[in-house]
Amino acid sequence: MTAKLRVAVLFGGESGEHEVSIVSAQAVLAALDRERYAVETVGITRDGQWISGAGALAELIARADQAKLPTSAGAAESGPITLLGRIGSDDWRMPAADIYFPVIHGPHGEDGTLQGMLELIGKPYVGCGVAAAALGMDKALMKAAFAAAGLPILPWLMVQRIDWESDPSAVLNRVEHELHYPVFVKPANMGSSVGVSKARHRGELADAVKLAAGYDRRIVIEQGINAREIEVSVLGNSRPAASVPGEIIPSGEWYDYNAKYIDGGSQTVIPAALSPAVTADVQQLAMRAFLAVDGAGLSRVDFLLDRDNGKLWLNEINTMPGFTPISMYPKLWAAAGMKYSELIDRLIDLARERHG
Ligand SMILES: Nc1ncnc2c1ncn2[C@@H]1O[C@H](COP(=O)(O)OP(=O)(O)O)[C@@H](O)[C@H]1O
Ligand SMILES: [Mg+2]
Repeated sequence: MTAKLRVAVLFGGESGEHEVSIVSAQAVLAALDRERYAVETVGITRDGQWISGAGALAELIARADQAKLPTSAGAAESGPITLLGRIGSDDWRMPAADIYFPVIHGPHGEDGTLQGMLELIGKPYVGCGVAAAALGMDKALMKAAFAAAGLPILPWLMVQRIDWESDPSAVLNRVEHELHYPVFVKPANMGSSVGVSKARHRGELADAVKLAAGYDRRIVIEQGINAREIEVSVLGNSRPAASVPGEIIPSGEWYDYNAKYIDGGSQTVIPAALSPAVTADVQQLAMRAFLAVDGAGLSRVDFLLDRDNGKLWLNEINTMPGFTPISMYPKLWAAAGMKYSELIDRLIDLARERHG
């Protein structure tokens, strides 16, 4: 019998999406086939402490901000834990594995930094590489890559925190000159709608920029539209496949953190009710977006479909999409008959293929 493949699942992390990562990892850990894989659970606390062992998941759940923990978080078994130190400290140790599975959303997990470390140690890892992860995390760089590939993106502009601090009214004037209300204001480096606001007038715009500036030095301000939210899962390496599109019906006016994870009222419609032509368009655009950032493994590509004129806009690529049991990414593949555990196997195979 061949030795089992040692898979280290990394989760948690220091970003605002720490709690979402815990729930995504919980599902991945539950689905990994223990006949095939020797699984190492590696949690990273909000302050950068690495913890492994059977009790690591329970430990991170206990330490999490309970108000932000998605309601789909289940109970986790307690068990022994090993402290691996704080990254960068003298006692920090990288847990040994044959392959790493980062299930971390947001900065320092999904932005290419962790991927760079895994490249340096020369081990395969699940998901996008350094460049795709970095582009996918930074909404300003992502838009630049999409625009260069000729992909349809909404009018937008970038503001630096320093510009805001030195002359707020110049920033407000520029936005009002180039776009019209409502606009969406987003920290360049975030996800899960953390720090994102809709601004309907100058007062809200000022508040929104202030909020976003608390999360990042760079702020993206985008033309707001009355949109249907369409999402496609992409799976593969150089010849990716696109799933059927799904639609999100947010519980609120737009898809904020609360609607995504907390109030449980958002609905998903799979497949989205779209004409065959629009379906084919979003699938083509999803694959092009994936290739435009040099994606690998998986990504979820999100669209805004204008209700007023039917125009389709590419919103963003998520290189580590939500992977919780209620997340769109696995559900879209389930609609094509791929079980969650098969999806995990496929992602591991893709990581090894890319490494080879
Ligand atoms: N330009 C826009 N027009 C209308 N709604 C938007 C726009 N940009 C974002 N939104 C709403 O805000 C949500 C979060 O924005 P998004 O860019 O997807 O950030 P995140 O990376 O945090 O998911 C979207 O799902 C959508 O509901
Ligand atoms: Mg989004």
